[in-house]
Amino acid sequence: MKGIILAGGAGSRLYPMTRVMTKQLQSIYDKPMIYYPLSILMLGGIKDILLITSPDDQPLFKKLLGDGSQFGIKLSYVVQEKPNGLPEAFVLGEDFIGNDDVCLMLGDNLFYGDLTFFRDAIKAQKEKAGGLNGRVFAYYVADPSAYGVVEFDKNTKKVKSIEEKPKAPKSQYAIPGLYLFDKTVAKRAKALKPSPRGETEIVDLILSYHNEDTLGVEMMYRGLAWLDTGTPRSLLDAASFIGAIEERQGMKVACLEEVAYRMKFITLDQLQKITADLPKCSYRSYLEKIITEEI
Ligand code: DAU
Repeated sequence: MKGIILAGGAGSRLYPMTRVMTKQLQSIYDKPMIYYPLSILMLGGIKDILLITSPDDQPLFKKLLGDGSQFGIKLSYVVQEKPNGLPEAFVLGEDFIGNDDVCLMLGDNLFYGDLTFFRDAIKAQKEKAGGLNGRVFAYYVADPSAYGVVEFDKNTKKVKSIEEKPKAPKSQYAIPGLYLFDKTVAKRAKALKPSPRGETEIVDLILSYHNEDTLGVEMMYRGLAWLDTGTPRSLLDAASFIGAIEERQGMKVACLEEVAYRMKFITLDQLQKITADLPKCSYRSYLEKIITEEI
């Protein structure tokens, strides 16, 4: 399973914060936003990851994350010249994907909770369980109109419709920015035509699997937190949420060095070396506690 994080886009709703730096590098409480989606892919066991960014931001991401070796993963980079739509991630990532399955995560989506659902979905995707070649998720939200929305048939529980940002949503189920597809995804993405808003749409890609009866839509349970960071308010809410959890537990969410160590991507020896190079700060103290097994 390969991983792609799409972290480009115009960030226009967050202007002027995004005038010099993209949204995905801004902070969510105590670390850059990109740490959160990257930690999710790593916790799913994905080690080969492509980061797609705008041309201007690529050097900044490289400065922050490098080639990923400090986290025991392989990070590659590709530029998206313009935000032409989410499916372009698969066109730009075609060679990277090769003959593998791929998990796309949007760089501004944040999950917190038990990730068993994700690991199970990755396993099922690799096995093509149930004859399904693509898997997306459904999450109950108060206002789904800003998202891809999936409607289920009341009796059969089968998918009835999938729409992007409908004015009158037919259900409360939004589709989060976490998608699993097979190797045919690049070919499908290339065949898509832009919608009236001038971008190719992820729902059209999802529908191409649905129309062949090879799409699985899995429920994300309500105990899982899915937060969006598209507006100043949602950014603040996400930071408050992470702050509340971290201060309560004394444990960090999406601390990439910790994730790498607990996933056995790096050894204790490597963790010690990385930690020793950090400036004195609470992030370093936290890693020191992990090293001495206080946490
Ligand atoms: O957050 C989940 C939602 O993400 C889904 O429910 C929707 O179906 C999906 O279209 C998407 O909706 P958004 O309105 O959040 O899409 P947005 O254009 O804001 O792009 C999402 C992220 O991807 C954002 O961080 C910018 C980045 N992006 C977007 C586009 C269109 C790119 O890097 N390149 C792009 O071409």
